[in-house]
Amino acid sequence: MTDKPFAVMVTGGAGYIGSHAVLALADAGWPVVVLDNLVTGFRWAVDPRATLVEGDVGDEALVGRAIGEHGIGAIMHFAGSVVVPESVKNPLKYYGNNTANSRALIAAAVAGGVRHFIFSSTAATYGVPDESPVTEATPQVPINPYGMSKLMTEIMLKDVAAAHPLNYCALRYFNVAGADPQGRSGQSTAGATHLIKVANEAATGKRGHVAIFGTDYATPDGTGVRDYIHVTDLAAAHLLALDALIADPAASHVYNCGYGRGFSVLEVLDAVERASGVTIERRMEPRRAGDPDALIAANDAIVRAFGWRPAHDDLDTIVAHALAWERHLGRRNAG
Ligand code: UFG
Repeated sequence: MTDKPFAVMVTGGAGYIGSHAVLALADAGWPVVVLDNLVTGFRWAVDPRATLVEGDVGDEALVGRAIGEHGIGAIMHFAGSVVVPESVKNPLKYYGNNTANSRALIAAAVAGGVRHFIFSSTAATYGVPDESPVTEATPQVPINPYGMSKLMTEIMLKDVAAAHPLNYCALRYFNVAGADPQGRSGQSTAGATHLIKVANEAATGKRGHVAIFGTDYATPDGTGVRDYIHVTDLAAAHLLALDALIADPAASHVYNCGYGRGFSVLEVLDAVERASGVTIERRMEPRRAGDPDALIAANDAIVRAFGWRPAHDDLDTIVAHALAWERHLGRRNAG
C-alpha cells in the first residue's frame, strides 16, 4: 500500500544513477516503474520493489501503454548515452539516443497526461565555462555532441512546459561518483572512464595504473579539478524536485547539482590510496581533448529552492563507498 498519488517512471533505472534514484523513490514509498532497454544497464540492478518494463524510451507506443497501465504521473529520465569522446565520433548516436528519444518520451508523456518530468542534464552543457563557480546563468556553450544533445532536450522541455500542462526540473550534474551507502547499487559499467571508478579499479587490481591526463592546468597542483557529488545526494535531489513539481504545477526549475568545491586528480588519487591502503601507479599523460581546467558548481540555487542538504559531502566518503562497491563487483564476478 502507498500514500502516493501516482507511480513514477524511471528511464534508465537499471543504470548507475537511475538505479540510485529507484532506491530513493522506493525507500520513500513511491511506486516505481523502470523503463530500460538493458543495453548498458543490468537486470540485477533493478530494485525488486520496482516493476521493470524492458524497452526503448524512443518507442512512443510502448511508453504510452506503460504510462496508462501503471498510472504514471511523473517521469525521471536518466536513460541515454554518456560517453563524451564517443559522442564526437558518433554524433548521430547521441542525437538519436539522447535528443530524438527524449522527444519521443516527452511526446508520450504529454499524450498520456504525465504532469511532471525530471531530466538528467549535465555540466557538459556549459562547455568550457569562463567563470567559476558555474551558475545556472553561465552561458551554455557545449563543446561536444553529448553536451549539445542534452542541451537540446532542456530546450524541448522549456518549450513543451510552456505549451502543455507539464512542469519539469532539469538537473545539471557535475561529476557523479560514489555508491549506495548500504551497498545495494553502484557504478557497474565495464570500460568506465570516470576518474574515481578508474582509480578504484586500479586499487582492486583490475587495472595496472591510472593515467593523469594533464599536469599543466591552471590549478593549484596542475591537474584537473572537478566537483564530485555523491550519487545518493544526487538521487535525494531528484526526490526533492519531484515534491517541488507536485507542490507548484506552474513552476519549472533548472539547477546545478554539485557541492561547490573541487578536488584535483592528485587529491582524488590520494583519497583512493587512503581508503584502500594501496599505492596506485600514476602515469603522467597529455591532456585529454576538451577537458576544462576546473569545473565547480554554484549550488546556492538548489539549496535555497529545495532545501537540499547533502548527506555525503566528503571526498573520503564518496571514495570509500565507491571502493566498497568495486570490491563487491569483484566478488560478484569471481563467484
Ligand atoms: N582523469 C584522469 N585520468 C583518468 C580519468 C580522468 O586524469 O583516467 C581526469 C580528467 O582529465 C578530469 C578529471 O579526471 O580532469 C575527471 O574526469 P572524468 O572523466 O572522471 O569526468 P569528466 O569531468 O571528464 O566528465 C564529467 C562527466 C561527464 C560530463 C563532463 C562535463 O562524467 O558526463 O563531466 O565536462 F560530460
